[in-house]
Amino acid sequence: MSMTDENSERIVIRGLRGIAAATTQISFVDPLGALYYSGYNIDDLVNQATYEEVVFLLLNNRLPTQTELNDLKSQLYSEMKLPKKVVERIRDASPTCHPMEVLRTEISHLGEFDPEPDETSDEANKRRAIRIIAKVPTLISFLYRTRSNLDAITPLKEYSFAENFLYMFRGKPADQQEKSAMERYMILHADHGMNASTFAARVTAGTGSDLYSAVTSAVGTLKGSFHGGASERVMAMLYEINSIDEVEHYIQTMLDDNKKIMGFGHRVYRSEDPRSKHLRVMAENLCHQRDTIAIYNKSKKIEATVHDKKGIFPNVDFYAALVMHALGVPREFFTAFFACSRVTGWTAHVLEQYVDAVLIRPTSKYTGEFGRKFVPLSERT
Ligand code: COA
Repeated sequence: MSMTDENSERIVIRGLRGIAAATTQISFVDPLGALYYSGYNIDDLVNQATYEEVVFLLLNNRLPTQTELNDLKSQLYSEMKLPKKVVERIRDASPTCHPMEVLRTEISHLGEFDPEPDETSDEANKRRAIRIIAKVPTLISFLYRTRSNLDAITPLKEYSFAENFLYMFRGKPADQQEKSAMERYMILHADHGMNASTFAARVTAGTGSDLYSAVTSAVGTLKGSFHGGASERVMAMLYEINSIDEVEHYIQTMLDDNKKIMGFGHRVYRSEDPRSKHLRVMAENLCHQRDTIAIYNKSKKIEATVHDKKGIFPNVDFYAALVMHALGVPREFFTAFFACSRVTGWTAHVLEQYVDAVLIRPTSKYTGEFGRKFVPLSERT
């Protein structure tokens, strides 16, 4: 068979839909509407676990003992501090660039300051993962406070990791409902099978590259509006629709124009995204408390209208946008908050990829021309 015959017989799976690119023990996305982290249903974890327990679970494929959990908490707390040079660069970042752009650059920059750069054992990579997981919320909080001309906040040892993140970002202690919402938000966003950013991280790790490079790839991928960037666009839509009476017309116009409604649809789930039901309840509770009930009611109407007209459900980004909004997070930081949690899943997958140690290198079907005659520059018209 000639090279061109082999090429023409190649089957292209556009967007790699339905292709299993690796085996994993980290998480399972059930198309019928369930999500498992290392075998535990997300519904149980979100109601019973802490974010730190989930970090341990994803990195170790088992839940921690009390001693192990205490150790992890201390490690996370002691690794939250940023290197001085990273702090300076965040201060110098262009005030108009997107937070995800700063995060992408500074994750890469953090790699320069790793205290054990030549250590590549599993244990060293696990320590490196914890270092990155610990620093990302500090980085995002510091960026926000610098941009808002506010002083940086030092985390408190007695606070949980999620609570400290919100505290460092907003500069005021969270109430009980906010604490619970932040903890749950972080648990629900920690991992999600072979999503696009995780795939990007695994591709980078598959070349034998380092953890910082893999997380940098993932951050760049999460930023896109078909992935983590969707929640910011959800908020934009909620502002564009002035009142609940405009919802029907707005959605119909979007569908007539073949535009995607942000925060709806999913590559894998064929029924409701299992994270949505939790985020919807959190959004409702926070919005009632915050007097932002009008925006919540508008969201419910959008959900019903999109389902009626298109038969699709909200994904994680739809109600997450409302939760972020109710917690007082500005829209341009929504994707960065997502990254602060998903970094746990990324690093867990990178560690798993290192064990598999295979280069991820698919092929493509060439549809261009063959045998073209080269024309020297001087003869080209
Ligand atoms: N708005 C309107 N229609 C949508 C839609 C959306 N958000 N998501 C999917 N659809 C439609 C598709 O156009 C398709 O319609 P058709 O059969 O009439 O052509 C049908 O639903 C099935 O979609 P599918 O092809 O299975 O989706 P996908 O796997 O190609 O895309 C997403 C998945 C996530 C990229 C897509 O749903 C999307 O762009 N959503 C908005 C962005 C978003 O919220 N991203 C966050 C994902 S967690």
